[in-house]
Parts: sequence; C-alpha cells; structure tokens
Amino acid sequence: MTRPDYAEKIPNNVGLAEDRRLQRALESWQPDFLSWWETMGPTLPTQDVYLRTATDVRGEGWATFGHVPMIDYRWGIFLADRNADRRIAFGRHKGEPAWQKVPGEYRAELQRLIVIQGDTEPASVEQQRNLGATAPSLYDLRNLFQVNVEEGRHLWAMVYLLHAYFGREGRAEAEELLRRNSGSADSPRILGAFNEETPDWLSFYMFTYFTDRDGKYQLGTLKESAFDPLSRTCEFMLKEEAHHMMVGTTGVDRVVERTARVMVENDTDDVAAHGAIPLPVIQKYLNFHYSVSLDLFGGETSTNVANYYTAGLKGRWLEERRKDDHQLANDSIMVDSLVDGEISQTEVMALTGLNTDLRREYIADCSGGVKRWNRILEEAGLPQRLYLPHAAFNRRVGAFAAIEASPTGEQLTPSEWDASKGQWLPTATDKAFVRSLMRPVYERGKIAAWVAPPRGAPRGGGINGQPFDYDYVHLA
Ligand SMILES: [Fe+2]
Ligand SMILES: [Fe+2]
Repeated sequence: MTRPDYAEKIPNNVGLAEDRRLQRALESWQPDFLSWWETMGPTLPTQDVYLRTATDVRGEGWATFGHVPMIDYRWGIFLADRNADRRIAFGRHKGEPAWQKVPGEYRAELQRLIVIQGDTEPASVEQQRNLGATAPSLYDLRNLFQVNVEEGRHLWAMVYLLHAYFGREGRAEAEELLRRNSGSADSPRILGAFNEETPDWLSFYMFTYFTDRDGKYQLGTLKESAFDPLSRTCEFMLKEEAHHMMVGTTGVDRVVERTARVMVENDTDDVAAHGAIPLPVIQKYLNFHYSVSLDLFGGETSTNVANYYTAGLKGRWLEERRKDDHQLANDSIMVDSLVDGEISQTEVMALTGLNTDLRREYIADCSGGVKRWNRILEEAGLPQRLYLPHAAFNRRVGAFAAIEASPTGEQLTPSEWDASKGQWLPTATDKAFVRSLMRPVYERGKIAAWVAPPRGAPRGGGINGQPFDYDYVHLA
C-alpha cells in the first residue's frame, strides 16, 4: 500500500503523486468542491470544530481528532487495503480475480452506479446546511459537522473513481455532482429522499437513522463489487458511516428518553406544553423518514439490478456469508406486489428480486432501533410503543406506489387517505411545533429541553473519550 502523504494538497493512499495527470485533474476539481462547500455547506460561522480526520485507513489513523477550521478540513482519498488475492464472490465471473480496471463492457453501468451513490453524499450536506443555527448542544453541533465533512469526503471518494477510471465522461460527471442541488427545481438530486428538507433536529436524527442507513446498505452492495477500487472505497466509507448511524440511533434515543421522562414526571401524554416532543409526533416523523427511505431501494423487482448482479457490479448485503451458489439462477423470492389491486406477495426469480432482498435486510436492521426506543419507554414504565409502519404505507416507488395504505397495512381509498394522513405523517402544525422548540444552545455542557444529553454526561458521554461538556465547537 502507498503511504498517505500530507505534504500533498489532497491526502491520499492511492499514490496520487505518481500520477500527475490524475493529480492535476483532481486539483482542478478541488476549488470547485471548496466553493460548493462555501455556498452549499454549513451556514453557521465557526472558528473551529473538534473533528476526526482520516489520515490513514489503518489503526488509529482513520480517526485523527483535533480542533480544525472546517474550510481547512483535509478531505482525503482513502481506499481500504488491497487484498491481492481477492476473487469475485458472485455472478457470472465468480471465482475470477477482482478487476483492477473497468471492463469496457460494464463501463456505462459502473459509472452510473458510482454517480448515483456520489450524488447522495453532497445532497445530505445541502439538506442539513441550516441545522447549525438551531443545534441543541455543542456536542450535537459537532456531530452534525462531522457527518457533513465525511459526506464531503464520500463525494471525494466517488469523484476519485470517476476521475481515475472513467476519463473525460467521468470528469464531466464529477462536475455535475456539484451542479445538482438538493431540492433544486432545475437540477435536483437524483433520488427523492435527497430532495426532502431536513429542517429540524428531529428530522436530522431520523434522517441519520433511516436514510444514512439506506446508504450503509447501498455501500454494502458496492463493497462486494468485482471492480476492486470501488469495493475498497466503499469498505472504508462504511467504517465512517458507523458514526452517522450512531448519531441517528442515539439521537432518537435521547428524544424518546426526554419525552418519556416528561410524561412520567408530569403524568401526562401531552408533553408539548412542557417543551418536549409528544410520542405521536415522534411516530409521525419516524413514519415519514422510514417510508421515503424504503423508496430508495427501488422497485421490488428490477432486471437492471439482476444484470448488475450477474455481471458482478453489485452484490448482496454480506454476500460471502450467504449459503447459496452466489449465482441464483434457480432460486426464487417472494416480493411485495399488488394482486388484483390488493396488497399481496408474488414469487419471482431471486435475481430480479434483489432489491427486495436488500430492503428486507434493511427493514430487519431498522426494527432494531424501534426495539431500543421501546425499551426506553418500557423502562420508564410507559405502555406506549413505537413501531415501523407497513411497507405499503406512504410509498412513491414500487408496487405500492399506486395505492394508499394505513401504517398497519389496511388499504385506503384516496379520500380515506386524505382524511387520515394527518394522523400518520407530520402536519404543518406538527412541523411548526417541532421548529418552535429548535433554539440553539451553544453553552458548554448545556442542552435543549426537548432532548436528553447522551448517557454518561456531563463528565462522560462525549466524543473520543471527551466529556459531554467539552468545547467541541468554537463559534465565530
Ligand atoms: Fe456517505
Ligand atoms: Fe452517512
């Protein structure tokens, strides 16, 4: 492996210094990235932030902590170590050595997969850009910025692949990744959930729980790719994603914990008057973020995805742990479908049902969060529980896009849906209420009233062994 070199403008372990052309191409993209960061990145002015920076992929090097001005953050290019013996684990090329170059026959498809993944990374930074103005604590503010700089680095990771392996077209796509913007009327981001607003911190926690978790599963399939540089890039990105998941999981934990406490202390479900977020509102936010994230997995069946799999471009979640032939030509799977207009399931070829396979893994993972949040309610002695809505609820993609259904999976007429959706999805009133709670708390060790501090606060509970009341961010 090439050692990372920080004397370079772009820290990397891909031997950039030995490839002058590639280095020049990336160095000419860098100012565009920085001006995107300045105009579309975090709006809250800061002097510096306690951030981790990847300076290596090994040992402690992937997480070097220190206070850094965000604009001086070192967005580097890091691939997980190469396994020289790596072989393709699935599909038509199973058993052949992994590819170090892009095979001509799969060039267009691989480029498309990289662009779609790449597009989500800066999108989330754009969606979250105003959240600093209402951070509930310096600890949360730091976590937001950590997620933001790492999504920026994930964009770098995809742009590196485009520049290094896809020539002029790849460079043009890298420019487009900065030109499209979340929610833009003229040039929106590619996927729906990445054009939604993240206007408040409850949305942010739900986004990092549900939508970043979709990212984890997509990266998991690309990590299996026969195209080795993509696989190694995604492997390292997944390591960073774990922190984003933690921010979402514990963020929702802390909201639920605070709400439960206020419910118990005041012996009421109506906690809004006490400055906490009522459980039904938390459930509505959960319903929204979960259902739009389910859409990100695409239709239940897809011949494109079947072809990607057979070609070795994109595998299954934990492909190598699956106990089958990794070619799936003779297997089948049950997928969600409408049969005579009714919510049902149909048997299809396993290959065409791969989106369903991935979504199923994701759903099982999501239910883990609900379990933990319900444990918090249970420990507080409360009978209420949160739940994941039915897969047919509020869908815009896939078999159930054509119908409306309640969170319990009861099919509804359009007028029934219109009459009831305000019970299940955040209304303008709910959103306005949540926003009314969003007042910044920038004092060390202090926290907003609608969310509990992390476990172990104030002396512990922070990042990298620091206390909760550490000076994570110096505002400008
Ligand atoms: Fe990411
Ligand atoms: Fe992420």
